[in-house]
Amino acid sequence: MHRKSNRHWVSTMLRIATLFTIGAVIGGDGATIEQLEAEMMQRVQSVTQAERKDGIVPRFNQVKSVGCVEARFEVHDQIDRRLKQGLFAHPGSYPAYLRFANATERDDSKKDIRGLSIRVRQVPGKVLWGEPGAQDFLLNSYPALFADTPETFLKFMRARQAGKELSFFLNPLDSHLKALWIVFRARERHLSPLDIRYWSTVPFRLGEDSGQAVKYSVTPCSSFRTRQAVEPGENQLRAALKAHLKGESACLAFGVQLRTDPEAMPLEDASVIWDEKASPFVEVATITIPDQAFDTTEALSRCEQSSFNPWQSLPAHEPLGRMNAVRRAVYAYGAALRHKESP
Ligand code: HEM
Repeated sequence: MHRKSNRHWVSTMLRIATLFTIGAVIGGDGATIEQLEAEMMQRVQSVTQAERKDGIVPRFNQVKSVGCVEARFEVHDQIDRRLKQGLFAHPGSYPAYLRFANATERDDSKKDIRGLSIRVRQVPGKVLWGEPGAQDFLLNSYPALFADTPETFLKFMRARQAGKELSFFLNPLDSHLKALWIVFRARERHLSPLDIRYWSTVPFRLGEDSGQAVKYSVTPCSSFRTRQAVEPGENQLRAALKAHLKGESACLAFGVQLRTDPEAMPLEDASVIWDEKASPFVEVATITIPDQAFDTTEALSRCEQSSFNPWQSLPAHEPLGRMNAVRRAVYAYGAALRHKESP
């Protein structure tokens, strides 16, 4: 009884906080956000003790923490003038924290979409949301998102919650065949999170008060490659990360792709890939990950408790489009909910 009324209080407070954000920032998307939150709330409340990791409520998406590592994010000095904006305006070396994740599977050996969340720290300047000094970048292992709009994402979340994923894709009255095709292409069996390419899939501004929009991509640049599964099974990606770092520090190249064709490179459809031949990604920074004890109980628990938000960002890298607008409140809500419900 006490637990129930506590939950009700938490839910009311979170709702008020979120509505504040919605009203102030994105007006028209409020209904979608509220409904996405209701789905998340329902999911969090149905999480069993067994599903919790060290008592921590798992994320709704990018559910399994493969591992989090400390890294250096080094901004290059030779960058095209147009790209010298925000974090990339001057050469520099920043501490960073990276989280590698599986979108849906707890078993690393299964096909899945992988996630990479990056937090660059000690970045000078104000943030649009969250902790000053932090610049977050969130990426997936496929260049397009299966959902074109937040509404499609919501429909999928509802179907998943009801255990009717297949009918979301194949319902003859409201089918999502392109989404199915993207999920089919995007889910892969991977051998190491350090050998995968990642994309932001949605656009971001480049430069305060600028009309430039970009997408991000992170590309492996280590000479080390994982050729076969390390300790095949449930935690093989974690094992591969460990083996790679024991062998040599890891290298990831961070690139930006300028939007050069407004029609072929839409801001509002996250399922459209911006053609890399028309506008190639240009490397602006290098991420280096040294060997470290990232798989201790404490480090994994810290990883599970972390949370990222694309709006934790300099204004020069403001998230663009409705997909991103919705994410601002949804991620903040998700993190608050997970932390309140965890001991
Ligand atoms: C309307 C669009 C989207 C919605 C509603 C959405 C929803 C979510 C939710 C609910 C979470 C879990 C948050 C938590 O419980 O703490 C999450 C996490 C995540 N999402 Fe999205 N997502 C969207 C688009 C995207 C896009 C475009 C990307 C980038 C490719 C992305 C990448 C990620 C990653 C990497 C995480 C893990 C964040 C972390 O490590 O804390 N999502 N998303």
